[in-house]
Amino acid sequence: LSAQATRYLQAHLRDVPDFPRPGILFKDITPLLAEPRAFHMTLDLLVHPFIGRQIDAVIAIESRGFLFGGALAARLNASLVPVRKAGKLPAAVDRVAYALEYGEAELEMHKGSLRPGAHVLIVDDVLATGGTAAAAATLARGQHAIVAGFAFVIELDALLGRSRLAHDGEAQVHALI
Ligand code: PRP
Ligand code: MG
Repeated sequence: LSAQATRYLQAHLRDVPDFPRPGILFKDITPLLAEPRAFHMTLDLLVHPFIGRQIDAVIAIESRGFLFGGALAARLNASLVPVRKAGKLPAAVDRVAYALEYGEAELEMHKGSLRPGAHVLIVDDVLATGGTAAAAATLARGQHAIVAGFAFVIELDALLGRSRLAHDGEAQVHALI
């Protein structure tokens, strides 16, 4: 990304201190969503490496991944598959547990969401420890899909999440900021 593009997008992120807990500096994307030019540019840049490649489905991760995943699926003419927090999807699900900073959580995807051999792109707003995105990849691979890539608006480099996603070299990890 050019330094100018990075600066423009960064100018539409808001740092909120002490959220959700004291000592945490929260990266708030709502100003970026509120500015049509910034949101459009974000979608253009997120999708760019995947244009012209085979992407059969976009997996969007609840909740903030939904904001970007639906728009990217439409741009790629791909299926949109939601991965949701436990208990939200109505039909039969595959489930995976993943570690949070304190404790653990579960993500679910409807059974039969992905055709075996489908190429999928996993989308979320932030890559932090990588636990969430890795859990989504586990769900996708459990349905015998190929994880072609991950797309994030923000990557928190210090948390080394990328190393948890790129281990087998199959997936391209794309982050804007
Ligand atoms: C945040 C963020 C990512 C995830 C990244 O979601 O939106 O999904 O954490 O963290 P990780 O890389 O360490 O797993 P959160 O679980 O706070 O929920 P939300 O999207 O519903 O706000
Ligand atoms: Mg999230």
